[in-house]
Amino acid sequence: MEHHDDRIMTGGRIDSDEAFAELSLRPKRLGEYIGQKNVTDNLKVFIEAARMRGEPLDHVLFYGPPGLGKTTLAGIIANELDVELRITSGPAIERAGDLAALLTNLNDKDVLFIDEIHRLNRAVEEVLYSAMEDYAIDIIIGKGPSARSIRIDLGKFTLIGATTRAGSLSAPLRDRFGVIGKFEMYKPDELKSIIKRSAELLCVETDEASQTELALRSRGTPRVANRLLKRVRDFCQVRGSGRIDLEITRHTLESLGIDEKGLEGLDRDILRLIIDRFGGGPVGIDTIAAAIGEERVTIEDVYEPYLMQMGYLHRTQKGRVVSKDAYLHLGLKAPDAPASAQISIFEEDSPQ
Ligand code: ADE
Repeated sequence: MEHHDDRIMTGGRIDSDEAFAELSLRPKRLGEYIGQKNVTDNLKVFIEAARMRGEPLDHVLFYGPPGLGKTTLAGIIANELDVELRITSGPAIERAGDLAALLTNLNDKDVLFIDEIHRLNRAVEEVLYSAMEDYAIDIIIGKGPSARSIRIDLGKFTLIGATTRAGSLSAPLRDRFGVIGKFEMYKPDELKSIIKRSAELLCVETDEASQTELALRSRGTPRVANRLLKRVRDFCQVRGSGRIDLEITRHTLESLGIDEKGLEGLDRDILRLIIDRFGGGPVGIDTIAAAIGEERVTIEDVYEPYLMQMGYLHRTQKGRVVSKDAYLHLGLKAPDAPASAQISIFEEDSPQ
């Protein structure tokens, strides 16, 4: 799905019209950014303090499920600091030399954004330590007895790292971030404001009922909200009156297989699998991944956060368990003593 293949920028290149539209919907300033108050309220202070001192902002780590605006906020920070932003990702930096090339191109106070920073390899990560701490890197030149190390000084940059799983970050890397921001799913009224804003930018008319409907069915995620809004716009253009109303909104969502609670086909497949084949659980994540035919990380990072948020799925020490509400949502009769009631629900040590 959208997890690892949904990168809209690679080295600043924009891949499609859709990606361009998404980019243009992104807020550019803190004042336009809706939600994530826990993160933005503090950041506002740290940005202002850094500006007043004329110093770089301390390194920042963002974590939380995909699609919640980590890249967007990194762009806003660079704008607010009035500096250049470079964007890359953990898997894109294959060798220490790749990172060195990026770092040596940064000026004082510039922002380097590394998405999926938990996927950096060890050799690259070690170079990053000294870059973050001393604004310098040691590069080995040559091989064997004639090899020598030279030190390269860097601009006093700010690293912004983003990850869907803070638990996968090595302790030495995590400890080098001075600011850590946890992204939460958006509340319906926040999503509604985002949808309203996006509709205005896309020059489509929406009524309040459709905004609410979309907000409730967007999995707490602005990226999903904006994507659904664009699909409703498509249906509206071809079939409707030109104005987005509740009827065309519901028709679109139904055509996309998105139910009243925002679940997609695969969400329901996961719940049904656990119910039909494993009596409601507990069942291990690898078993689920194999049966569904999706990667484990995709299920963990993309699907489970929303299913857990809705209270349909629990992570327990023994495996995944569905709740009574999940049975009811799927129109099934819940067992008298559902699996979730038989075992105590110790939430597993969350990777987040
Ligand atoms: N578009 C996507 N995410 C947004 C946010 N957090 N605030 C405003 N517009 C957005």
